[in-house]
Amino acid sequence: MRIKTAEFIKSAVKPSQYPASGMPEIAFVGRSNVGKSSLINTLVNRRRLARTSGTPGRTQLINFFLINEAITFVDLPGYGYARVPAAVRKKWGPMIETYLAGRTNLKGVVLILDIRRTPGPGEFELADWMAHYHISYIAVLTKADKLSRSKQQNQKRMIADCLSVSPDDLILFSAKSRMGSEKVWQAIQGLLDAPTVHVT
Ligand code: GTP
Ligand code: MG
Repeated sequence: MRIKTAEFIKSAVKPSQYPASGMPEIAFVGRSNVGKSSLINTLVNRRRLARTSGTPGRTQLINFFLINEAITFVDLPGYGYARVPAAVRKKWGPMIETYLAGRTNLKGVVLILDIRRTPGPGEFELADWMAHYHISYIAVLTKADKLSRSKQQNQKRMIADCLSVSPDDLILFSAKSRMGSEKVWQAIQGLLDAPTVHVT
């Protein structure tokens, strides 16, 4: 994908603060520190568009970015990280759910998983929950650079089993090497092209 422009639009905590443009939207979800913001930066070839950090809980608001004046990327706070204070986590759950359940121009979600981790209740709940709301999603296994090629394949099969999907449905990705970036873009294009049935 050729990126002509990528700009931060605004941050929001509640629907009245979301951008009103009605542009097709793609949201990035996953555990804290999994690499959501890094994935966005890699996709749009900008090093610091979305803020990243080694400390979990960096993204605390819903951040909207306008790409090529045609698509909005939405960087969501991460879920399920014990080191994020409970009070903060309690606020994020509803903030993310309100966004996902109610955003009518949401075309799909990029669910990001750490290739080294076994999916847990957080991922299962989210996947079930998106199915319930008829939200289409693609799954990306990030930080692939941290494993050898053979371990990447083993983890891909294991995670596909856990999520009851085909290994071919999982995209291996690395923000470090940019591996998988084009494939993620293609999958996002698929979400944008599909007719959406969004039930609220
Ligand atoms: P929160 O906003 O806190 O939920 O985190 P996030 O999911 O946005 O993660 P972020 O992109 O901030 O990355 C977290 C850490 O993981 C940073 O130190 C990144 O440099 C690192 N990281 C992200 N993606 C990759 C990757 O593909 N490979 C490697 N080796 N490190 C990565
Ligand atoms: Mg982030």
